[in-house]
Amino acid sequence: MTAHSDPLRFPPGFVWGAATAAYQVEGSPLADGAGPSIWHRFSHTPGRVRDGDTGDIACDHYRRYPEDIALMRSLGLQSYRFSIAWSRVLPEGRGRINQAGLDHYSRVVDALLAAGIAPNITLYHWDLPAALDDRGGWLNPDIADWFADYATLMFRTLGDRVPMWSTLNEPWVVADGGYMHGVLAPGHRSAFEAAIAAHHLLLAHGRGVQAFRASGARGQIGLVVNLEPKYPASHSPADLAATLRAEAYMNRQYLDPVFRGTHAEELAEVFGEAWPAPRPADQMALIREPIDWLGVNYYTRSVVRADESAWPQRASAVPQRGALHTETAWEVYPRGLTDTLTWVKNRYGQLPIYITENGSAFFDPPSAEVDPLPDPLRTQTLHKHLTAVHAAISAGVDVRGYYAWSLLDNLEWAHGYSKRFGLLHVDYATQRRTRKASALAYAAVIAANAL
Ligand code: NOJ
Repeated sequence: MTAHSDPLRFPPGFVWGAATAAYQVEGSPLADGAGPSIWHRFSHTPGRVRDGDTGDIACDHYRRYPEDIALMRSLGLQSYRFSIAWSRVLPEGRGRINQAGLDHYSRVVDALLAAGIAPNITLYHWDLPAALDDRGGWLNPDIADWFADYATLMFRTLGDRVPMWSTLNEPWVVADGGYMHGVLAPGHRSAFEAAIAAHHLLLAHGRGVQAFRASGARGQIGLVVNLEPKYPASHSPADLAATLRAEAYMNRQYLDPVFRGTHAEELAEVFGEAWPAPRPADQMALIREPIDWLGVNYYTRSVVRADESAWPQRASAVPQRGALHTETAWEVYPRGLTDTLTWVKNRYGQLPIYITENGSAFFDPPSAEVDPLPDPLRTQTLHKHLTAVHAAISAGVDVRGYYAWSLLDNLEWAHGYSKRFGLLHVDYATQRRTRKASALAYAAVIAANAL
């Protein structure tokens, strides 16, 4: 037997899961006393989401979660990462509690535990209660209090049963998509607002971690960020500087404050006059509140060149001709996942890391004629990324688990239902779920704990 034919084994106890987010899969956004979220509003505003798609029905996961949990179990999933819709439990975002909303998530948690699947709950996956947006949303300094109160309510309700929690999903995308470029809810375009929102996201995160410790909840709490390694297009000083700006803006903007209590220097260049005076030390200390684990969402890399016309980073991505790209136009670059994980360890030190999302949108037909539905590109891409995770573990990075994005085809935000990331195919006309070949390949990896 030669060495290269040996299976790539993952460490004992490595956690295998899949992820979703409330607005993308649940449907029934106003059911049982829930209040509207900013995504409900945004998707109902003409022109904001492709084809006018909304989350009104989505995958009907709000009602079909028992069936979906049975499917998770049949694949051997050990953990399910999902988010709570804040406005289901607090319809106005603060104050009045909606018991029916709490009961829903309590039932979901119990059903997961009964199936032997560990819940991993994200408190904020972009669906801010609309009533809080009416008060300024992420621009209002009170939002850290609002978030801490909401988090405390969830820790009190589910803290005895949930082993893994995270405060925010991809704060960079919340501020960049929601406040800088306006392509995501609430759809604003302002560097000043993006800088303010970013700071309040960090403060809310810190308050959420403190609330977790104070609640006495069991389990562990982390933060989930999206990381996209940046490689310079050339060795010219201009391209190297642009690469550092892009890296600071996307990869260090949140992690430097959380792990080092500082802000990346390049951010002042990126934000220009919108960049604030140094933040008070007590706020930086709050942001640095220790966390138990870091979640990394990984999809692609970018090769960066200086570009004065590209606002606000003055850097743009050079298309990689000849490389495989997904339907979201992202280059498939598994090596970047190994590089990113190694970068986190080198820059921030050894800490438990979970890949909280990784996946790919490739074309699948609207309705699945066969089970399993062949999806060779997604299957191959999954395999390559798992190999890249294994390489990082072999290089000494403490990766504890992997969550595929996504369990189900779902609402890809402003792209609507046009991009399918699921392991399970969803026929939106009938709500029928069909396993894709990638789901079965993933199940085989899980069963063997090896590639
Ligand atoms: C990141 C987000 O967390 C998730 O909501 C989104 O659908 C995937 N990436 C794919 O873009």
